[in-house]
Amino acid sequence: MTDALHATPLADQAEYAQAVRVAVDAAAAYYGAGDSALDDDAYDRLVRGIEAYEAAHPDHVLPGSPTGKVAGGAVTGDVPHTVPMLSLDNVFSADELAGWAAGLERRLGRPVEMWSVEPKLDGLAVSARYHAGRLTQLVTRGDGVAGEDVSHAIGTVEGLPETLTEPVTVEIRGEVLMTAAQFEDACAKRTAHDGTTFANPRSAAAGTLRAKDRPYRCETTFFGYGALPLPPDDGGEPAARLRELPHSRIMELVAGLGVRTTGATPVGVIAVSTVEQVQARVEEIAAVRAELPFGIDGIVVKADLAADQEQAGFSSRAPRWAIAYKLPAVEKITKLVGVEWNIGRTGIIAPRAVLEPVLLDGSVVTYATLHNPADITRRGLMIGDHVTVYKAGDVIPRVEAPVVHLRTGAERPIEFPDVCPRCGAEIDVSQQRWRCVRGRACRAVASVSYAVGRDQLDIEGLGETRIVQMVEAGLVADFADLFTLTREQILGLDRMGETSTDNLLAAIERAKEKPLNKVFCALGVRGTGRSMSRRIARHFGSMDAIRAADAEALQAVDGIGPEKAAALVEELAELGPLIDRLVAAGVTMTEPGATGPRPAGPGAAGSDAEAGQGAGAGAGDGSVVELPLTGMAVVVTGAMSGPLEALSRTEMNELIERAGGRASSSVSARTSLLVAGEKAGSKRDKAATLGVRIATPEEFAAMVASFI
Ligand code: IVH
Repeated sequence: MTDALHATPLADQAEYAQAVRVAVDAAAAYYGAGDSALDDDAYDRLVRGIEAYEAAHPDHVLPGSPTGKVAGGAVTGDVPHTVPMLSLDNVFSADELAGWAAGLERRLGRPVEMWSVEPKLDGLAVSARYHAGRLTQLVTRGDGVAGEDVSHAIGTVEGLPETLTEPVTVEIRGEVLMTAAQFEDACAKRTAHDGTTFANPRSAAAGTLRAKDRPYRCETTFFGYGALPLPPDDGGEPAARLRELPHSRIMELVAGLGVRTTGATPVGVIAVSTVEQVQARVEEIAAVRAELPFGIDGIVVKADLAADQEQAGFSSRAPRWAIAYKLPAVEKITKLVGVEWNIGRTGIIAPRAVLEPVLLDGSVVTYATLHNPADITRRGLMIGDHVTVYKAGDVIPRVEAPVVHLRTGAERPIEFPDVCPRCGAEIDVSQQRWRCVRGRACRAVASVSYAVGRDQLDIEGLGETRIVQMVEAGLVADFADLFTLTREQILGLDRMGETSTDNLLAAIERAKEKPLNKVFCALGVRGTGRSMSRRIARHFGSMDAIRAADAEALQAVDGIGPEKAAALVEELAELGPLIDRLVAAGVTMTEPGATGPRPAGPGAAGSDAEAGQGAGAGAGDGSVVELPLTGMAVVVTGAMSGPLEALSRTEMNELIERAGGRASSSVSARTSLLVAGEKAGSKRDKAATLGVRIATPEEFAAMVASFI
């Protein structure tokens, strides 16, 4: 099955020996600290080169070779496994898959009737031993023969309950991983604790599972992919069923016991009957890979029926009835060629890595986030370094770490700016995120342009050139200044006639009538775009109520977590003087139709209750009005028709939010409904694959009829 395209060619015995050394070191690093100097693709290619060389020169095979060994022979432990925890052989293409399946069918002497297809989760393998329904021991894979006891983690892994729904004795094997959200959370906790972060979700999950006395707790998630009879009950139920049932049915049985399985992932475990269908399913899963809430490094294809598995048996390393269809690695090594310092709307100075272009998860990546200067220092990055770049789900690419042993001496330190690279003012370095001391004023042109944009205040006739003129003339430092501009001041600007001045003044006047959500959006508060602004405005009803809300009250808004809430409170306080000037100018500060927040409960007091005095015609009795889209994330695609024909995307999004839903632009496992009109393209396919409900514009119009 060795494919020259995917094997590193090894010319002679010396190159072979060198390759074995590199692969063994890489495997040790990967399974140890999780910081291998080789990315997954390079490691796979190297091992294939080693395999090819060994096949041609069997007498040269070194005892330390990683081939034929679980985890490249890198790790051991002291709890023996009941049955070895093996690895999986790999294929990389449709041809290789077909070749493997044909080989298996030849061995069986009959066609495989049923295949199951499921994601290959990128975490670490563990075995969970349940006795009489109680989780008694958790063991890592180790070298496959014996693993490390990590039972101290029992109770901390989501999806792995301490008790089953039935008192059965069974061993469940699966993968422990961190979802993208768990990873972000874990990194934030670790940064707060010791200023470092985790390299990637896999090593974060591995470290977390092993850690015994960390002062902070990080969540991990388990997905089971197999179940075995466990002594002493391996003569009885459910052992007999585990030996007879197809894999896909066993996954259902395990789920019925209360354990999360690969069947509970957004792509599930799907049984199909031909290799062509397997290939089609592989492609479907690959297409939604970036949308999954956790990393996968391939797709596992298994002969589903117990009889096929039993007859096919195992090699020393892997089952013959299963194969991993590997997807290209989402972690790659590339070169850091520079660092750009960009200034955000609020004056935050954000470093961005400029990379030698690298193909990562289907797209060419040339930039990656570097968070903040302290992060650069912590990682010890230098210009010219080889760096590992990582991408998980729809998370923006991030630079992980320099590959220090590839340094040539030609690397240069990264220069930090002394003054704001945009306006030359001083930099406030008192926080982790540096900021131009002029804050928003530094980006006056950009922030005023944003505020007057079509989806915010929609002030026609105020293009960027005009705003530059106004800022340079000292007339405008932020968008509140627009409302106090006099006719004379505008007329005094270059190429500004009477008519255009009057038109502009009228447009500014009209902007005062915009509802709160547009005014709030115009503020450009970090992390609150159009739809978040609409949710906030609808929830609180008035600017007063928003300003009175504390972090806890803000979290009642869908999509606002503790971190965002705290940042919001801080920014709103900072924006206080600007908001006061808007109020004084007569800009609308209420949201039509919004009821304002409901008190949290009968005993609710304090700011929550005060914040409840929002404007608008509320029910007043605290009764809960269930809207048709409450709790739903809705995506719109294609051309709208019927009653919705004339609505723009922004208007559709507003409609969704009026009806209690959350508008989103991309389909993911979290999407509740896709409204798909004519010419709906890839979003429709993605929704179908993920099992997301799809409605026509007409069906959707009927659902939200009273809100149109
Ligand atoms: S089945 C006998 N199913 O991939 C081994 N493994 O590279 C049967 N893995 O050790 C394994 N997702 O840790 C199986 N859906 C899945 C998997 C999966 C991830 C891991 C597992 C295995 C490794 C092999």
